[in-house]
Amino acid sequence: MSASTPLKLAILISGRGSNMSAIVQACRAGRIAAQVAVVISDRADAGGLERSRALGVDTGTLPAAPGAGNRFEQALTETLNAHRPDAIALAGFMRILSAPFVESYLGCMLNIHPSLLPAYRGLHTHRRVLAARDSEHGASVHFVTAQLDGGPVVLQSKVAVQPADTETTLSARVQATEHIIYPEALGWLAQRRLLWREGAAWLDGRRLDAPIVEDFRAAALH
Ligand code: GAR
Repeated sequence: MSASTPLKLAILISGRGSNMSAIVQACRAGRIAAQVAVVISDRADAGGLERSRALGVDTGTLPAAPGAGNRFEQALTETLNAHRPDAIALAGFMRILSAPFVESYLGCMLNIHPSLLPAYRGLHTHRRVLAARDSEHGASVHFVTAQLDGGPVVLQSKVAVQPADTETTLSARVQATEHIIYPEALGWLAQRRLLWREGAAWLDGRRLDAPIVEDFRAAALH
């Protein structure tokens, strides 16, 4: 595929869908040279489903019983095959994908995680940052590999932790930056500036041995 062909994107969600919405809007505004082919949720009650339908995006739900991992992934693969996306964006998708599934999309699946990886992999990142009294926090866009939240990090946002912060205020500050950096990194992928090669992320022909960091500590975030 040539660099001028719009990327076909599938977005996987489990929740509110604010990142999904930011990505769809960035595509429509021409900030990502991509077209969102489908939004898929693993939860029938995900608030993001209503949002993606309202945006007019093809939307599907694949609810699965706990433990029904392989059947869920079979259904997911069938849905993805029907849309043939070039890339997959995990946007608040809270289900752990199996190593074989991840390997089959290696280099074309990105995730956003609410921490400055490698710090705070896993859940409840904002709570853990507050408990540790860290002064900085943020979000990371990374390639998805079989290691949970362990793939090469491409882009991070850094925010300040304020003395009066609660989980709610801190997560809102971090999410405001997610809506900036995730579309940005997907834009690089769509332009083929961002590539997966030899198990690493490459940007503009240069291997990213450390992520690009955008500093929002002094920014007014909404
Ligand atoms: C986002 O903050 C994202 O970083 C996080 O879930 C939230 C989803 O919000 N993802 C993870 O924790 C993945 N481990 P959204 O549904 O409004 O985009």
